[in-house]
Formats: sequence, C-alpha cells, structure tokens
Amino acid sequence: MTATLNAETVNKNITYEDQSSNRSQVCEEILVGLTSSFKYIEPKYFYDEYGSGLFEKITKTDEYYPTRTEKSILNKYASEIASACGENAIVVEPGCGSCEKIRLLLDAIRPSLYVPMDISADYLQASAATLSAEYPWLTVRAVAADFSGERIIPHDLHVDDVSSLKNSSKPQTMVFYPGSTIGNMTPYQASDFLTSIRTSLSSGDGIILGVDLIKPDGILNAAYNDREGITAQFNLNILSHINRVASADFKHDTFLHHAFYNSMAERIEMYLVSKAEQWAEVAGELIYFEKGEMIHTEYSHKYSLEGIGELAQSAGFKLEQSWTDDQDYFSVNILRVV
Ligand code: AVJ
Repeated sequence: MTATLNAETVNKNITYEDQSSNRSQVCEEILVGLTSSFKYIEPKYFYDEYGSGLFEKITKTDEYYPTRTEKSILNKYASEIASACGENAIVVEPGCGSCEKIRLLLDAIRPSLYVPMDISADYLQASAATLSAEYPWLTVRAVAADFSGERIIPHDLHVDDVSSLKNSSKPQTMVFYPGSTIGNMTPYQASDFLTSIRTSLSSGDGIILGVDLIKPDGILNAAYNDREGITAQFNLNILSHINRVASADFKHDTFLHHAFYNSMAERIEMYLVSKAEQWAEVAGELIYFEKGEMIHTEYSHKYSLEGIGELAQSAGFKLEQSWTDDQDYFSVNILRVV
C-alpha cells in the first residue's frame, strides 16, 4: 500500500507516511513459507506488540550481551561516529522500533533530518512522536514500510526536506542499521540488501552498521537459550502473531523452542519443533506437521571484522572504520560508498 494513511501532522517538525503491507499480502507471504518443503516464518513476524516487549526483556537477560554491548560502543564512540557522518547529515533508520539507539548519537551527529522507518505503523508513530518531543530541533520524517522489500530509502528524500539548507556542500545520507539485524539475512541476502541500499546512495554516503561478532560457541548458545526461557517465549510468540495476522490456529504449546550455534555456517539457527504429528490451518489452507518437524524462524549470522569487510566490498562499500568493545563481542562499523 502506498496510500498516506496517517497524514495527520502533529507539529511542523514531524510527518508520517504509511506504506505498509495489507492483510492479503501478509497471508500470501506467510503461506509461501509454510508450504515450502523447508518450512519457515520470517523473523520480522516476531515483532508484534507482545513480541517486541519480549525482545526488550531478552536484551535485559544476563546471557544476551549484544544490545548492551552495542549501546556501550555507541555511547563511547559517539563523537567519532558523528565525524564520519559530517554536518547536516540525513540519517535513515530502517526498522527503528522504539528509536532508542539513535538517541545515543543524535546530540553528537545533529542531523538535518531523521527518517525512522518501521513495519509497525502505530508503534512507529508513537516512538517518532516521543522522539520529536524530546529533540525539538530535530526534523523527523517517519515512514511506515516493510523495508525488506525493494525500496529501502524513500526516493524523494533529497528533494523537499533539505532544500532549505544554507550549507552549499551536499549533506551525507547515513543509513543507521544497528542491532545486528543484518545477521538475520544470509551473507548472500545481506550483500543484496546492502547493494540495494547502495543504489539509493551517492558517493560520500554510508552506513553505520552494528554487527555481532564470532565468539566461543558457549556464549552464543547461552545468549539464545536464556535460563528464564524468555527467548523460548519470544520464538513461540511468532505463532500467536501468525494466528492473528493470517487467520491461523496454531496451538503454541504444541511446539518447542530450539536454538543452536552452527559453527560451520557461523550462525545461530532458531526453530520451532512440532511436539507431535498435527495439522494447522493458515489463511484457509491446512498445513501438516510430522512429529519433530521444524519451522525455521531465524538465522542470526555472526561475522569477523574481515568478514564484514568482504561483505561491504561485495556490495560496493568500503569498510572505513570499526569500533568494538573490550571483549570483541560486538562491532559498530562505517561502510562508505566507494
Ligand atoms: C534483533 C535480530 C539482532 O538475532 O540476536 C534475539 C533477535 N533472536 N534473540 C538476534 C533475537 C533471539 C536478534 N536481532
């Protein structure tokens, strides 16, 4: 849908657009995954309201190190990251969620425009409004869209919003993609995704990319199997979400959480395992599950800094700079258009 649904303007510094998918597109997409021979549900379906809350809880468990580690890096190196963005930068954040991490950088970067994008229109509107109230000097243009689709950066971004700038040098567009969300894609998909971002950027523009690093298996396995079982709830909640958005009838206590580090493929793999032979109805179709059959729900790829450099290069970027924590658990990287 490209219609502007939430055209209401709260104050002159904030605007909204809704380009999110409709129900039949969502059903279609979910059925493609569940009727395939290797059954899968895309990880973006974790994030309904309840699931977003569960993810928030995961980030506070002892075992899940990525979020707190990345925040510490953003905090510590904010001024260096800001230098890499230049003056009057336009910052675009696909999948911004609560727009929490950008707060660690805003005062340092002082962008001329911030474009938060998220699949969840209501949530986006609320978080963009809160952010805008907190940063009165900031111009915010919120776009509700599924950025895993083809067009990542609004194509008309450069025309209207920055025409008033006095500074004659063209401001850089910097895409902020933290959280190792890139890890949900395989390296090939990640390369395609970065390439499609690349085509909307010009020379001098770049990406601030948060990437989780390869580390001992035990630490990785623990991070996706926390003792409190919150990751398990998070994984199972995807079924409740599917029940709602795709008229499905999964009984979530008939599946088990299963997550492990595949060191050959350098990724966490997450599945839901059917506890028994069963059927589920999804958008009017019956889907059969054998006992022990798995639904793939997530990959979370881990990289070395060399791997990030290769990924960047494969997509027409150069890895300009990387910052890590003392334990080399996580990295924040500047990828620059070459
Ligand atoms: C938000 C996609 C980065 O892969 O670590 C957390 C999601 N999954 N625990 C990740 C997640 C299970 C997370 N990302």
